[in-house]
Amino acid sequence: MKATHMRTCGCGDVNQTQVGESITLCGWTQRCRKLGGLVFIALRDRSGVVQIIVDESERPDLVALCGGIKNEFVLQVTGAVALRGERDINPDMKTGYVEVHAQAINILSAAQTLPFPIDDQVGVSDELRMKYRFLDLRRPQMQQNLMLRHRLSKAVRDFFDQEGFLEIETPMLVRSTPEGARDYLVPSRMQRGAFYALPQSPQLYKQLLMVAGMDRYVQIVRCFRDEALRADRQPEFTQIDVEMSYVTAQDVMDVNERLMAHVFAQTIGYKLQLPLPRMTWKDAMQRYGSDKPDTRFGLELVDVSDAAIKGEFGVFNNAVANGGCVKAICLEDGAAKLSRRDIDALGEVVKTYRAKGLAWATWGDTLKSPIAKFFSEDAFAALLAQAGAKQGDAVFFVADSWDTAVTALGQLRLELGRRFHMMDENVYNVLWVTEFPLLEYSQEEGRYKAMHHPFTSPMLEDLDMLESDPGKVRAEAYDLVINGVEAGGGSIRIHDSALQMRAFRALGFTEEQAREQFGFLLSAFAYGTPPHGGCAFGLDRVAMLLGGAETIRDMIAFPKAQNASDLMTQAPAPVDPRQLEELFIEIAPEAHEDEA
Ligand code: AMO
Ligand code: AMP
Repeated sequence: MKATHMRTCGCGDVNQTQVGESITLCGWTQRCRKLGGLVFIALRDRSGVVQIIVDESERPDLVALCGGIKNEFVLQVTGAVALRGERDINPDMKTGYVEVHAQAINILSAAQTLPFPIDDQVGVSDELRMKYRFLDLRRPQMQQNLMLRHRLSKAVRDFFDQEGFLEIETPMLVRSTPEGARDYLVPSRMQRGAFYALPQSPQLYKQLLMVAGMDRYVQIVRCFRDEALRADRQPEFTQIDVEMSYVTAQDVMDVNERLMAHVFAQTIGYKLQLPLPRMTWKDAMQRYGSDKPDTRFGLELVDVSDAAIKGEFGVFNNAVANGGCVKAICLEDGAAKLSRRDIDALGEVVKTYRAKGLAWATWGDTLKSPIAKFFSEDAFAALLAQAGAKQGDAVFFVADSWDTAVTALGQLRLELGRRFHMMDENVYNVLWVTEFPLLEYSQEEGRYKAMHHPFTSPMLEDLDMLESDPGKVRAEAYDLVINGVEAGGGSIRIHDSALQMRAFRALGFTEEQAREQFGFLLSAFAYGTPPHGGCAFGLDRVAMLLGGAETIRDMIAFPKAQNASDLMTQAPAPVDPRQLEELFIEIAPEAHEDEA
């Protein structure tokens, strides 16, 4: 770390080349212990930890001062760098060959007893970590995480600069954009009863920047979505947002996979093999039961509908007769690995994904299966063969509509993969998933909705079906998947007003409604629009994957807790009634239904 008027270098920077030199360090007291006639202080800053030694025979005054130093006191220490004695060398520590013999110690700031020790090894509840986030962030692991995130952002900006992109800021107070989540609203003081939304993404603005001739746009930008939180979701998160003119989907994927290769190399020295593999959405769903397949392990889904209807099992026969299917996965050597109780628990897993049940067979020394009785011996053998089973294996079946069957088994696959450690933690499997459906049918609303967003272009070869069979139309859309996590996604956009109108109609908008919501975009398109497309990555998610963290919270300096609150500042919080008055807002006395 850089020298200042208060210090010579960082604690973690002290090394053998400085032996004999007098240096000054500043940092936090990790530990201060007296052993015999010596005091040992471990002094810590962002760069690392170094050992300070105070010798009672030389400096009794300093040893006396050390008696008052407690953990996390901030010190300034001047001393001479010395090599450690052979027996005291700690090769696991960056500064493990040296120590600093203190000649002066200045207490810059005292510290109360901390609510938890600054130590990666000590388990602390998430709540306490969030409440004292400024202390949690002192932990070496969290400091590493934020340093990694910095290197990631820098690598992104360097890459796009080289590629001729301009970083352009877009507004935070916007009209609501249709990304599908709930908006965060900001009331207007100037216009009674009117609201801004915080952007779910800069989608419309970046398209308008293409109409404006900016050609290549990038922005590292905060986005806001009021949705249920999970390990990889925050109400405010950061996107690496990209838009390009005069491109095909191929061009967009090309640049962005080179971005990924650059980022992986610059941040963690990992070499990604390009071009990245591509898999169609249909293929991903068939084989992995997910549009974000974790391809680090096999355990692929198999369609066994043919063999499954050769018996008398009504569940299988009906599913296929009703246009559904029977899907299976075969766990190698599974018969011995799974108890009856395990299998029952797996049945509960698929039920949370709407499957009605989980049929199974374990083929150990004997064959066990609650559904064998519905089949002749040969027919059951043929069913197991179609599932790819051999003696020793366990096979699981779900019979249902295609969506439900693949989704439920896809989740079962992940559960088995986790349980039996089938994901190699040391590799990154990065791929594109392409040819998503343009629309998905919403049972709740009884209409089609855009799977990505309403500006995504249909694949031209499917255009004829937009009115006749909308569910079959594929989109020029692509997602980037890393180890089973959706890291990013985008599409080629519709740049033609007439086609955009057709797409809005397929989504159930009347011309009037479309004009009211997106009139500014449609009118912009009427003034000469370049064909364009782009994508956005979740920067927090990419950082999480690079850092090997379990949640994006560990990659965000000040994240929100599960209920979207900030436990440190206590936001959200009530405001002064006068503030509300100015905004013409009254709080309804009754609690909302979903508030509880
Ligand atoms: P999309 O909605 O797929 O696309 O978002 C892009 C990426 O942003 C990340 N992401 C999130 N990360 C953390 N918390 C969240 N709540 C959250 N929501 C999304 C994901 C996701 O892949 N405008 C389009 C992109 C485009 O078409 O160019 C968009 O926002 O990693
Ligand atoms: P039953 O005869 O209803 O007790 O079902 C026999 C077995 O079939 C049980 O193990 C159920 O979990 C399983 N089962 C029920 N419905 C389905 C389904 N839709 N797909 C796969 N297995 C099912």
